[in-house]
Amino acid sequence: MTLWKTICSRLTTVCRCAQPVCGLKRNSTIWLVTSVSSRHLCDSVGAIRNYVDLQAGPGKNKVRETDEVLLGSPLLALTTSHPFTGYFFVDLASENTQALAQRCSASPQCQQVDIRTGDCNIMVDQIVTEIKRDEHRSLNLAFLDPEGLEPKWATVARLASVQRMDLIINYPEGGLNRFLGRAMNSPGQTAVDEFFGDRGWRVAYQESQAQGEPNLHWRLIEFYESRLQAVGYKEVLRADEVGDEPLMRNVEKNAPLYRLLFASKHPLGHKFWTAVTRRDIHGQQLLFRETPLQY
Ligand SMILES: C[S@@+](CC[C@H](N)C(=O)[O-])C[C@H]1O[C@@H](n2cnc3c(N)ncnc32)[C@H](O)[C@@H]1O
Repeated sequence: MTLWKTICSRLTTVCRCAQPVCGLKRNSTIWLVTSVSSRHLCDSVGAIRNYVDLQAGPGKNKVRETDEVLLGSPLLALTTSHPFTGYFFVDLASENTQALAQRCSASPQCQQVDIRTGDCNIMVDQIVTEIKRDEHRSLNLAFLDPEGLEPKWATVARLASVQRMDLIINYPEGGLNRFLGRAMNSPGQTAVDEFFGDRGWRVAYQESQAQGEPNLHWRLIEFYESRLQAVGYKEVLRADEVGDEPLMRNVEKNAPLYRLLFASKHPLGHKFWTAVTRRDIHGQQLLFRETPLQY
């Protein structure tokens, strides 16, 4: 554990968080969800438990304003008390995957870590193919954590083709705001169409505009949820649905940047999600008396 700690501290490659006012809260939520999920998945004897992080980053994030360094999602998932049996990490930037590989090499779970450099929309296919080899006894959790609109709907649908695959999706409200207006007026296929999977989001957008709704994204998320429901996620929960705030806001404009969504095909998954998010809102005692390790 000391070696793991030392190597993780020495590396300097870090992601610059996009002004995460609530970065720590976001990270602790991700950590709790991965932790609770892995614990829950552990209950199934002999099961393969995979964690798939398609935009893993270098393993650490630096908060721009404060220079505070937070563990990124792959290291959070690696440091749960009930580790997964397999970790698939992907990032487009080789600098990130190299730094992540070094950080992971000192982890007690390093033999279970598979790191790939490439576009998540391409890499997902190989990873799902591998998971499907043991599909009947695998329980899986995938995390999509975009900067903009990178994960296309086809990627979500490919993940959803695995029978037992829970999803955590960081819905990119800020990224969408940058593209929605232009995409509405474009006759061709746009990045927004690829993100939502078809052009149906335009109806939600127009209805929301026509009614002068203050938050367009409630409708757009509803549309996204309906797409998830169509591929087997009967209920989709979001952190702010249970009274919580969006997990990241823009510092200058205080505008939400991301909203965390959780989709499970199993009702137990929702029970855990609700428990995890409720802790933040009501300041209840920690569900589990553990905190992520600091490296
Ligand atoms: C918001 S950061 C992820 C942070 C990470 N999940 C964490 O919690 O520390 C987004 C990452 O996606 C990567 N990325 C951007 N486009 C990508 C793509 N098409 N496929 C895979 N990774 C991509 C970036 O290099 C960046 O590291």
